[in-house]
Amino acid sequence: MKKICLVLVTLLIASSFVFASGQQGGSGGGSALVGIAMPETHVLRWQKDGASLKAAAESRGYRAEVAYGDADQTQQNRQIQGFLTQGAKLLVVGNVNDGVNSVIADAARDKVAVIAYDRLIMGSADYDYYITFDNFKVGQFQGQGIEQGLNLASATAASPKYITLFAGSPTDNNSKFFFDGAMSVLNPYIDKGVLKVVGPYPKTSADNANFQRIATENWQAPIAKTRMENLLSNDARDVVLDAVLAPNDTLARAIIEACLADAKYAGGKLPVVTGQDAEFDSALSIKNGQQYMTVFKDTAKLAEAAIILADQILKGQTPNVPGASLASGSLTSIGDTGRKVVKAYLLEPVIITRNNISVPVNAGFYTDAEAAQLK
Ligand code: GAL
Repeated sequence: MKKICLVLVTLLIASSFVFASGQQGGSGGGSALVGIAMPETHVLRWQKDGASLKAAAESRGYRAEVAYGDADQTQQNRQIQGFLTQGAKLLVVGNVNDGVNSVIADAARDKVAVIAYDRLIMGSADYDYYITFDNFKVGQFQGQGIEQGLNLASATAASPKYITLFAGSPTDNNSKFFFDGAMSVLNPYIDKGVLKVVGPYPKTSADNANFQRIATENWQAPIAKTRMENLLSNDARDVVLDAVLAPNDTLARAIIEACLADAKYAGGKLPVVTGQDAEFDSALSIKNGQQYMTVFKDTAKLAEAAIILADQILKGQTPNVPGASLASGSLTSIGDTGRKVVKAYLLEPVIITRNNISVPVNAGFYTDAEAAQLK
């Protein structure tokens, strides 16, 4: 009888340890909470990012909560504070702007790890990891799209091509990488006089005064549309634009809308308009010959990689993220917050034109109904 009691007590103690370790986020993550803070939903890709991050975290045994900041950093800070109050063990943050720093400092105080997700958290030394795409290369693809679409290699100063420039949100550090990547391709043609800029011309984002004039607050499509309408009525009134550097798909479609309302561009004579994010509406626009190109950033892969990184951090392992390379050499600066150089893990973007829309389709990036319209 004594033997049976001893066995039962032993089993009871062992089972309580297993349950407890599960509670404290043991080997499979247990019920540790991962807080996911996305910046906005008006740019559709972030809705996909949030859903993919949550699914990837839960598939590894974590609890996960997603919040969208509606492009309002004060609101996002409240959401992040909420995650910390709930005892989150790690935060994945796509910030709106560097106003996020105060709650990143709170996370550091609480020893909660933070991964900056696809947007570097500028001005902070309170976190260690950033995961994104090679955003300079995203910009280079946009520049190459214009180079290819206008056949700039054969253009002459006697009959130059005309372009006007847009940049992303001035509060989003990525905007400078996108713009500088594109201008690294376009500036040599501008210097030769075969490509002429209509409107403000910052050679690089270092020309902050002019960069601010072409930037688009919080990536808001209405702001880009109004600015394009003003350009068409003023600076670009007496020329036919051959290209518009648009920094992402949401803004590209707004710019195209403005152009289609101008008789000079109606009926299929649109400028070459760039973009990024391979949003469905833009993929359809590219298929229909309106937008010229986009850049596919497989955010399903980015989300999976971010959660693999999170899992390794929470387990105290040295990160090794399949499909993502740790930025080194000249790319190390991608992780420079101005206060610290954090470890930046980079995934590869892909340029998409009418010839290879199948790439995001075959990657399962769209719903079946959407994919059917793109085939
Ligand atoms: C950037 C991101 C782009 C695009 C943009 C609009 O930070 O890198 O892919 O989504 O935000 O939200």
